[in-house]
Amino acid sequence: MRDLFAGDATRFERFSCAADGLLLDYSKQRITSSAMAELLALADEAGLKDGIAAMLSGEPVNFTENRAALHCAARMFELTPAAARAEIAATRKRLDTFVARVHAGEFVGATGRPIRHVVHLGIGGSDLGPRLLAEAFAPSLPTRLELSFAANVDDTEIRAILDRANPAETLFIVASKSFSTAETLFNARAARAWLAAALGADADLSRHFVAISNNVAAAAAFGIAEDTTFPMPEWIGGRFSVWSAIGLPLMLAFGTEVFDDFLAGGRSMDTHFATAPFAANLPVIAALLGIWNATFLGLDGHAVLPYSHRLRSLPAYLQQLEMESNGKSVDHQGQPVGWQTAPIIFGGPGTVGQHAYHQLFYQGTRKVAFDFVLPICATPSATDRSLFGNALAQSAALMLGRTLDEARTELRARGIDDAEVERLAPHLVCAGNQPSTTLLMPSVTPFTLGQILALYEHKVFVQGWIWGINSFDQYGVELGKNMARDIEAGSDRQRDSSTVGLLAAIDAMTRK
Ligand code: F6P
Repeated sequence: MRDLFAGDATRFERFSCAADGLLLDYSKQRITSSAMAELLALADEAGLKDGIAAMLSGEPVNFTENRAALHCAARMFELTPAAARAEIAATRKRLDTFVARVHAGEFVGATGRPIRHVVHLGIGGSDLGPRLLAEAFAPSLPTRLELSFAANVDDTEIRAILDRANPAETLFIVASKSFSTAETLFNARAARAWLAAALGADADLSRHFVAISNNVAAAAAFGIAEDTTFPMPEWIGGRFSVWSAIGLPLMLAFGTEVFDDFLAGGRSMDTHFATAPFAANLPVIAALLGIWNATFLGLDGHAVLPYSHRLRSLPAYLQQLEMESNGKSVDHQGQPVGWQTAPIIFGGPGTVGQHAYHQLFYQGTRKVAFDFVLPICATPSATDRSLFGNALAQSAALMLGRTLDEARTELRARGIDDAEVERLAPHLVCAGNQPSTTLLMPSVTPFTLGQILALYEHKVFVQGWIWGINSFDQYGVELGKNMARDIEAGSDRQRDSSTVGLLAAIDAMTRK
C-alpha cells in the first residue's frame, strides 16, 4: 500500500465515497482500480441487482425457511410491500398509545404507582440493538425513565438491576421473537418471582410485563396481557429486529420521536442502497471489500473499532449481525461453497484496544482488516480531537508499518550503539499493509445510527448474496441450544466421554 499511495496522489479521492453525510474512505484497502472493477463485475455476475429487488419486494430470500427478510419494511421503506408496512404501522400505533400512557402516568403498576424503571429482558437480536442504541443516545438525549438490560442467564446480571429497582414502579419487557429462549424466560420468571415477593402473589403482576414476540400465544401462556403484547412479524429476523417493536425500550426511555429519527436514518440508507450505482454505493462497496479481504486475500479477522465510547457495543452488535448471518458454508443447493465466507468479527473502542490487543495487528502472524468508525461532531472538544488523532494514527500506522531500515534509524537516533541496534531492530519491524476502511459519520445521533446500522445490514445481505449462502437462517445455533436442553434434562443422548466426565466432576464438586 505504501507503493500504491506513493504512485497515486489522488488515491484518497479515487477510493472514497460519500453519501448523505457519511464518508467511506477505503483508500487504505489493498485494492487497485482493476481489482475494484473486477469486484463490481462479480456483483453484476451474481445478479446483485435482482437480489436487492428480491429482498425488498418480499421474495423468500431466506430460502431454507421459505421466508421474506423485510426488515426494511420495519423502517417504512417505500419499495417494500405495502401489506408488510401496514402490519408494522398497526403495531406502531399500539406502541405509541402504550408509550404515551406510560409517560402520562396512566399506565400504572399493580399498586397504582407510575412506571419509572423499564427492564428489558432479551438476548441476541432481542437485546444487542436496543442496548447499543440506549448507550449511544443516553449521553445526549433526555431520558423519560430509567432503562436497564438483562440478557445473561447468569442471574448476577438481573440481580444487580433488581437490587436497586422499586418493584411497584418497574416494568419488564420480555423481548423474544420465539418466546422460547431459555435465558430470556429464566430472567422473566426471576422478575415475576421478585415482583410477587414484593407486591404479593395476589397483585396483578400483568401490569408489570410487556411482551414483544412473534409467538403471541406463548406470551399469553406466560401471563402477559393481550393489551401489552406487541407482535413482531415472522419476516423480520432477530438480528435485524431493532427497527421493529423491539425498539420499545428506546421509545419509552427517549420518546417515540427519537425512534422515528432512527428509522428515518435507516430509511435514507435504504434509498441510497436501492438507487445508487454500485460503484458509489456504500453498502455494496463495504461488502465487496469484505469479500476481497476474506475470500481473495484470505484474511481471518475483521476488527470493528469505534472511536466513541457511545458506540462501545457496536462491535458486539455487528458480531451477531455478520457472524450469525454469514457464518455459513453451504449454498442454495446444499453444496459446500468453495470459498471463505464471513470473517471473525471482533473489536471494541479503538483507543482502549490500542493499549491491549492492537499489538497483534502490528506484529502478529495473523492478518486482520479493520473498520475505523469515527463520529465527527461539528464543534469538537479536546477529547474529540484526541479520538480523531488516535483513529487516523492507527489506520496510517497499520498501513505504513515500520521497515527494518526505519527501525535502525529510530534506534540510532536514540543514541544506541550499532550492535544493540542490530539486535533490537528486527523486533521493531511492523509489516504494515494492514487494510482498513474509515467511516466518518457526522456525530452520534439517532439518525446517523440508523444510517450505519442499515449500511451494515445491507453489506451483510450483499455478501451473503454473492457468496451464495442464506444470510437469514441460523441452524447452527440450534444444535448447541438443543444439546443444552438435553444436558439440563439429564438425557444421555449423544454423550461423549468428555461431557460425561465433566458432568461427573461437576456433580462431585456440587455435592460438597
Ligand atoms: O440462538 C440464536 C437466536 O435465535 C438469535 O438468532 C436471536 O437473535 C436470539 O437467539 C434470541 O432469540 P429470541 O428473540 O427468539 O429470544
